[in-house]
Amino acid sequence: MKRATFASNIGIILATAGSAVGLGNIWRFPYMLGSNGGAAFLLVYIVCILIMGLPVMLSEFYIGRRSHSNVKGAFTKLAPGTKWNLFGFIGVSCAVMILGFYSVVAGWTLEYIMQAFTGSLAGKSAAEFTSEFDLFSTSLVRPLIWTVVFILLTHFITASGVQKGIERASKVMMPMLFIILIALCVRSVTLEGARSGLDFLFHPDFSKVTSSSFLSAMGQAFFSLSIGMGTMITYSSYFTSKTNLQNTALQVTIIDTIVAVLAGIMIFPAAFTFGIRPEAGPQLVFITLPNVFERLPLGNVWSCVFFILLALAALTSTISMHEVATAYMEEEHKMSRKKGAWIVTGICIVLGILSSLSMGLLSGYTIGGLNFFNLLDFVTAKILLPAGGMLICIFIGRFVKRKDLLEEMTNQGTVRFYLFSTFYFLVRYVAPIAIALIFLNELGLLKKFIG
Ligand code: PHE
Repeated sequence: MKRATFASNIGIILATAGSAVGLGNIWRFPYMLGSNGGAAFLLVYIVCILIMGLPVMLSEFYIGRRSHSNVKGAFTKLAPGTKWNLFGFIGVSCAVMILGFYSVVAGWTLEYIMQAFTGSLAGKSAAEFTSEFDLFSTSLVRPLIWTVVFILLTHFITASGVQKGIERASKVMMPMLFIILIALCVRSVTLEGARSGLDFLFHPDFSKVTSSSFLSAMGQAFFSLSIGMGTMITYSSYFTSKTNLQNTALQVTIIDTIVAVLAGIMIFPAAFTFGIRPEAGPQLVFITLPNVFERLPLGNVWSCVFFILLALAALTSTISMHEVATAYMEEEHKMSRKKGAWIVTGICIVLGILSSLSMGLLSGYTIGGLNFFNLLDFVTAKILLPAGGMLICIFIGRFVKRKDLLEEMTNQGTVRFYLFSTFYFLVRYVAPIAIALIFLNELGLLKKFIG
């Protein structure tokens, strides 16, 4: 059977950027930045994107397009007879674990669409928006239902196949999301608290950087770019022989970073204006934005459109996670795409229900102070994705021949890759060492060695 590919170049960029741009940029980035001191975090984040993010993404593109295979099969093909294909486990488990908590937040966006429709998301004070959110997110039934609805939406699009489902969705919503983000930024920076918000975002105060800010920034970089678990391996396995890998990686990274910074510009001036603490945590975006809509003419329409676009952005990301696990089921376990997708969906629904309940009913059950939702987030974003990224660097830098790498990156010598040596140096040395240092730093070992 001929394997599917994406239909067009623009489709490739939009689908890949669709995977990268999602709640990671608009929900997770602002709250990570808010809890880690602001502008200094932004700087560390950007350094992580440059020295780890881009090289790892390109490396994943190599693995995916070279093998035209799922996350496990790719390693079986490129490194036969080795244990490298165990990477498939990291990929598939990350996919379902991220889906498990991500869909809860995606579910929140569905609730907000509904509230915007019915008009109940308007006409309240900042304190009321906060308490309403708390009430909703800790309640039993509604968040749970939305979570499951979102997983099922993801399921049906993924099960319907690569091009039709994914490309079509991405083509329309990405540009729209971009436009509405800019509009909301404009409203936000004309609010009274804009100065302090922008200062917080852009004027680094290094005294606020703690050692764990580094881990948070690195984790955020991996999470936001959808790297370290094989999403980009899986997507690039559908690239064509003409796809320019370097340009695609660069474009996706730039789009992703711009959207994150725009989200920051949209949130912080508003948060400062309405007296919301930047370290409010996962609820930050959900309690800040309704205040911005309140200050816009036709606020209800704005909030409705915004949350629909946010839900769609989340959807193009959840599809890409689901695809990692579904392609694996289909190709490695030789089952129909439908059946594979249902198994993945079943596991995600169980994890999704548990993480939704961990906000309220099960909030007393914690491990290391983290409820189930935060635990899934922590284990994936801060441990598995960077560790997976490190393995990918080691694979590319030590296992793959330089000549093969160059050949694939230049499409058999038909396009140029001026910065190849830089890329190779980053993958071989800088990225894996930087990841290792951040892990050691978090474990406190680095201090012991130096001190
Ligand atoms: N990058 C996505 C976002 O920012 C989340 C994601 C993580 C998607 C890992 C796929 C894999 O929302």
